[in-house]
Amino acid sequence: MRHQRNPDASSAAPDVRFPNVRGRQPWRVTIRHIATAIAIAAASGQAAETTAPASPLAIVASRDGGKLFVACATRGEVAVLDSAGNLTQTLKVPGSPSGLAVSPDGTRMAITCAAPQSTVCIVDLARLEIVARLPAGHSTFAPVFSSDGRTLYACNRFNHEVAVFDLNARKQVARIAVEREPIAAALTPDGRLLFVANHLHNGPASAEQVAAGVSVIDTGTRRVVKTIRLPNGSGLLLGVAITPDGRHAAITHNLSRFNLPTTQVERGWMNTAALTLIDVAKLGVINTVLLDNVESGAANPWAAAFTADAKRLLITHAGTHELSVIDYPALVAKLSQLPDALAAGQTPDYTRVSNVRADVPNDLAFLVGLRQRIKLNGNGPRSLAISGETAWVPGYFSDSIDKVDLSAPGCRPESIAVGPRVPMSAIRRGEMAFNDATLCFQTWQSCATCHSYDARVDALNWDLLNDGIGSPKNAKSLLWSHRTPPAMSTGVRDRAETAVRSGIRYILFAVLPPEIPSALDAYLGSLMPAPSPYLEKGALSKSALRGKQLFEDTAVGCAKCHPPGLFTDLQSYDVGTRQRADGAGTNFDTPTLVELWRSGPFLHDGSAATIRDVFRPHNRQDKHGATSQLTEQQIDDLATYVLSL
Ligand code: HEC
Ligand code: HEC
Repeated sequence: MRHQRNPDASSAAPDVRFPNVRGRQPWRVTIRHIATAIAIAAASGQAAETTAPASPLAIVASRDGGKLFVACATRGEVAVLDSAGNLTQTLKVPGSPSGLAVSPDGTRMAITCAAPQSTVCIVDLARLEIVARLPAGHSTFAPVFSSDGRTLYACNRFNHEVAVFDLNARKQVARIAVEREPIAAALTPDGRLLFVANHLHNGPASAEQVAAGVSVIDTGTRRVVKTIRLPNGSGLLLGVAITPDGRHAAITHNLSRFNLPTTQVERGWMNTAALTLIDVAKLGVINTVLLDNVESGAANPWAAAFTADAKRLLITHAGTHELSVIDYPALVAKLSQLPDALAAGQTPDYTRVSNVRADVPNDLAFLVGLRQRIKLNGNGPRSLAISGETAWVPGYFSDSIDKVDLSAPGCRPESIAVGPRVPMSAIRRGEMAFNDATLCFQTWQSCATCHSYDARVDALNWDLLNDGIGSPKNAKSLLWSHRTPPAMSTGVRDRAETAVRSGIRYILFAVLPPEIPSALDAYLGSLMPAPSPYLEKGALSKSALRGKQLFEDTAVGCAKCHPPGLFTDLQSYDVGTRQRADGAGTNFDTPTLVELWRSGPFLHDGSAATIRDVFRPHNRQDKHGATSQLTEQQIDDLATYVLSL
């Protein structure tokens, strides 16, 4: 059900007006739609004033290396810098620029402008003028040109699909379904295969194996030829790079040890930062290497890129504000020396962790001697560009770019400002803290390492200790946490403010000045729901309207506990979902249903991969609303309705 698509999502024209509110109660308009309209307007750059921060999210160099283009996500513009880093021009775009690509011949640039109805802008680089505006889907990222420059691929993150545009005809010609929230993509040099990183997995979180995957698309047939599953615990994929010879793909992601109780954070006990290498010919994982060191995490790895000579692989760490520079041939050589298993009678070398291939994903020393960790001046590096021997790394929160001289590894990077300096609001300081792993003991993780960079979910279960050991809970979206006390699925925290402070203490293992939790409260309290991809032109679909009637029908009973507005009555109940591990008498806090379309899997233990699963097979005793009498069609309608909220 989750992947049911809104057929209008990517064909409709970009629209930043008030969403159509037909079929909704007027007072709900005041609560949600004003907020949504402001969010959309801000994202589209309409309400953005010159005082808005830049938030450089993507960067690309021109083919000749003479210019840099920087996507300023919260300013609705792309900045143009000369090769010395001076700002020379800016280009306004319709939406929040989320990705940039330059065509193979260097004459054009594609800009994905993310919004509920995104636009892909094609820019003539000689004139720096938008020559085409192509309507795209919900929150579009990662534009990629085909080798001949005639086709463009882009990820419609919340439609779970890759869109294909014919650039001569200037229209979308295909949509290819992938797994969940595609967010980064790269093409092999021969143009044959597109590697797409799915940000999250889409199964239940209570399974033994829980990992996101990489969808590989054959550009000739426009089909997914394989989804390559990463190792257990892989999630929050954000970067893809392919070696210049096209033999390997490199994927950056978290590797979570979600099956261990969260008693400590040392040595990657909870989360590790990982790089998975894929053999392009075999479409299989070569191995997964940890980017951390034994006593310092390299949290929240994001962008990856190879130098043109394939000698170095560069990775940004958005949590620790660092750039990893990896000796790639040496890494490949070291990996290939390891056997699958020890020979009969051979004793392992106890002075090292990795004796066989399977040891590598647990080896915090594997990269020692092969990698340099460069401390950046900026904060929150999410992207990078390489031109010649220079790496350019924008800091999302510092509105600056670090210029790193790759030929002089010992040199401190130079810092360049992106536009005027803007004073930081408490909300932005909170967002920065949320993503900042340097606040954590030994920089192992930040709040974003489990709640993702936008304070929603990693879709994993975690055995936090606040409700005893041995009862894992699915990570919750933090949207509206501050409006819907108590907090946590069992309500053990009286309100979100308390949960924020416990998170700092028991998850980051840190003591921080009180301004930081206050800023986190301000940020989390400011989060706005994004419109559901299940809406059709901003309104409930026919199926959702039928579902709404059932939802509000007292015989079914949903609205009693999930009353419209907050969609929770803030009370706890036993709705028949209790597991043995939860302990007798445990009730669950009724969650809000707003933005359910992006917070799966569902229920406190993440056992329901889809809304349908919440009611079939769960809810046999009709404790969770009266659903056993409903037809399959009615269950689908109910699901479509709650997924539209
Ligand atoms: C190791 C993963 C992990 C990290 C890191 C993490 N959280 Fe959470 N968080 C969770 C899980 C899992 C839940 C749901 C627990 C439950 O339902 O009992 C949760 C729940 C919450 C809630 C309650 C939400 C609600 O509406 O009930 C808040 C607030 C919260 N986290 C804030 C934070 C903050 C702030 C940080 C950083 C200081 C943080 N979290 C770091 C895993 C994490
Ligand atoms: C008696 C109160 C009550 C009624 C009636 C009720 N719910 Fe719930 N709902 C809850 C509680 C409590 C939970 C959390 C259960 C858990 O996490 O194990 C929940 C969870 C959910 C979830 C999963 C949300 C998530 O984020 O994981 C969905 C979807 C949902 N309810 C929809 C409905 C629908 C649709 C109906 C009507 C058929 C309904 N509920 C009736 C109390 C109720």
